[in-house]
Amino acid sequence: MSLLEFKNVSFSNNNDKILKNINIEIDRGDYISIVGSSGSGKSTFLKLCSHLISPTEGTINYKGKSIMEINPLELRKEIAYCFQTPYLFGDIVKDNIVFPYTIRNEKVKFDSALKLFETFNLTEDYLNKEIKNLSGGEKQRIALIRTLLFKPEILLLDEVTSALDADNTLIVEKAVKSLNDEKITILWVTHNIEQSKRNANKLLTIEAGQIKSLELIKNEQQ
Ligand SMILES: Nc1ncnc2c1ncn2[C@@H]1O[C@H](COP(=O)(O)OP(=O)(O)OP(=O)(O)O)[C@@H](O)[C@H]1O
Ligand SMILES: [Mg+2]
Repeated sequence: MSLLEFKNVSFSNNNDKILKNINIEIDRGDYISIVGSSGSGKSTFLKLCSHLISPTEGTINYKGKSIMEINPLELRKEIAYCFQTPYLFGDIVKDNIVFPYTIRNEKVKFDSALKLFETFNLTEDYLNKEIKNLSGGEKQRIALIRTLLFKPEILLLDEVTSALDADNTLIVEKAVKSLNDEKITILWVTHNIEQSKRNANKLLTIEAGQIKSLELIKNEQQ
């Protein structure tokens, strides 16, 4: 049984068919790079995966069960979506670190959070920085850290390195690779074809709302 399966899935809004008849099986441990031109439907595909939007036709199964039968909040703890435009809560960075613990009624583990800060090349003093003063790349990394405080089964990344320089992009790639080594399934939308080929095992191309191809990638690490 595949971890996540789309069966004849379409998504329309008003009269526009944004995704058409998507069929795909995603296996546990897959690392899928998603490419396609702007407006082709990549973000819409990720939003369907985490049930931020519902399919207008077809079925999406997670672990063999229709996502329509799974509490969306519970599903999103397992299938975490890191947005293309990072949305941070509250006034300071710390508000974003506290939030994932609050919704789970757990005590905040600042130690684990600070380990992630170190992984993503941010110092401890970022905790008290104001959101409105952060750079685009800092916001992207804080959003990633917030997503990774509790490890999901499937991590959906939507162009999360678009505002990062080459060094920080490699840092994020390395961190994502090590999550994938722990069998966390990765779906990563990127415009960077080189990036997509470095660590992924599959390359999904979406064009005009349809799957154009799903190719297996061979790379040095595999
Ligand atoms: N809820 C919606 N209602 C109407 N149109 C939508 C909606 N969501 C997305 N679209 C349209 O559907 C198309 C696909 O959008 P989507 O955001 O999935 O593209 P994308 O492949 O992620 O593009 P980009 O590379 O620019 O991020 C676009 O033309 C967009 O304007
Ligand atoms: Mg997009």
